Amino acid sequence: MNAEPRRVEHLQTDKGSVPVYATGIVEQPWASYSATDHDVWAQLFRRQRAILVGRSDDEFLRTQDAMGMGSTRIPRFDELNRALKKQTGWELIGVEGLLPELTFFEHLANRRFPVTWWIRKRDQLDYLAEPDLFHDLFGHVPLLMNPVFADYMAAYGRGGVKAHAIGPDALVNLTRLYWYTVEFGLIRQPDGLRIYGAGILSSKGESIHCLESAAPNRIGFDLERVMNTRYRIDTFQKTYFVIDSYAQLMDATQPDFEPIYAKLAAVRSFPAGAVQDGDRVIQRGSGEGWLDGGDV
Ligand SMILES: [Fe+2]
Repeated sequence: MNAEPRRVEHLQTDKGSVPVYATGIVEQPWASYSATDHDVWAQLFRRQRAILVGRSDDEFLRTQDAMGMGSTRIPRFDELNRALKKQTGWELIGVEGLLPELTFFEHLANRRFPVTWWIRKRDQLDYLAEPDLFHDLFGHVPLLMNPVFADYMAAYGRGGVKAHAIGPDALVNLTRLYWYTVEFGLIRQPDGLRIYGAGILSSKGESIHCLESAAPNRIGFDLERVMNTRYRIDTFQKTYFVIDSYAQLMDATQPDFEPIYAKLAAVRSFPAGAVQDGDRVIQRGSGEGWLDGGDV
């Protein structure tokens, strides 16, 4: 354990913004959070909770309440861990910033979810280049209380360790799965589409855009389709993939991905906004406001 955790953020260089990685596991320095830090958490928490009623998976908000995540102060990892360990065997660990891929996968495979210890500044309420405490804790942690989703996350970590050994192309395919499910996934509920992806849940603008804008495609989840689709890191997503249940996600991770990686290595990847033959189209996007180029 480091005595004084660092705040590791991207660096601005002459080549633009460069991500910086850190591997240390740190104790959450809870006593060192300032009144402003707690207030930033409170503002973000209240704002997102108001937006997410009727937009997020109902279970998500219920679980936040049940595990004691509230607006009054930044939650303590050790308190959340008591609920989490008991329910699904997961544990939050404090980290200083982005982790190298393999380190991240190994944590997930062992049911350890890395949470950035520091929170964004007051002038960054709407956008931040990398994950901070609000994104990680508010967005990702509640669904780790769902036993099926919790198993999916661990299976993803094991898949990541394997993909890392296979090579960079396999990792690209697998990363798209994380992006379009864990970060930007939608789920179908009886009364309509709801949000479960943490990248959306922690973003005011995208929480509304993903459900209410005519611009994006909304397409039924298909593992190979997702693994072959590029995505946006600089704008809202052009396509959202919709699952019917978390069990569907878990089932999709049962087969060995190696034959899929081999198959996808021989085909061109799909642009982020293109609709393909065979897609289960729930809503075809108008494409309004889309920028050309920039898919990663
Ligand atoms: Fe995330």
